Amino acid sequence: MLKKLFFNWKMNPASPSEASSLFTEFISLAQFQPQISLVVLPPYVYLSELNQQLQTSGVTNLKLGAQDLARYSAGAYTGQISGQMLKNMGCQYVLIGHSETREAYQLSHEQINQKLLQSLESGLVPILCVGHQSDKTITEINYPELSEQVTTALQNLPTEWQTEFYLAYEPVWAIGTGKTATNPIIEEVGQFLKQELAKLGLAKQVGILYGGSVDDVSIQELVKLQQIDGFLIGGASLKPEKFKTIAQVVANQV
Ligand code: 13P
Repeated sequence: MLKKLFFNWKMNPASPSEASSLFTEFISLAQFQPQISLVVLPPYVYLSELNQQLQTSGVTNLKLGAQDLARYSAGAYTGQISGQMLKNMGCQYVLIGHSETREAYQLSHEQINQKLLQSLESGLVPILCVGHQSDKTITEINYPELSEQVTTALQNLPTEWQTEFYLAYEPVWAIGTGKTATNPIIEEVGQFLKQELAKLGLAKQVGILYGGSVDDVSIQELVKLQQIDGFLIGGASLKPEKFKTIAQVVANQV
């Protein structure tokens, strides 16, 4: 199966018109590469307009998601956005526990778990991000930390839960640095994450993603990964010539 591409715009761009122009490039990419699945994760404030653009375009291989959601379903939580709101806004996916979000809000593993449960309750497909918080380089992988991030985030799941779900491995030191983890390391971690998921009875429906400096150059090597079902892309999401090359390389994958 072709690898799925997720584009995290982070806190970009600055205006609705720029967001709309950028999204137009994704729509044309989706039309040009109908066999590739694309998910764009813009800031909350652009979701409504981009959803209208998406509906008008008629493309079916491009979906929208959000970059975070509240731990609660509704109520007196100033500044928070619930899963139900996102769902009603046309979102199908939501990022949970991105390292930047974990750090900005000092999120505990239990709070990540609450967000995950909210995403399921709202019918959103979660993309749970895990990575080495403590390591600054790749030389030693902190497996106990990865294991804790996965197992605590995935506790108390509804037993009947069988839906699609993604686990994104993003080593913190690789995000926005132009340095990617090597393929053997990513394969090793991908294998480890699958084993952790198997222990929880969740191996079947979970796709493993890699994120961290995926761009038009690094994709040439990364596309060869066997254990990885897709990529979570940050900076290159803002540059049409880069994300179009990434999609082309993935489309050519054998
Ligand atoms: P970069 O692709 O800019 O390294 O960002 C990765 C990321 O954080 C995606 O969520």
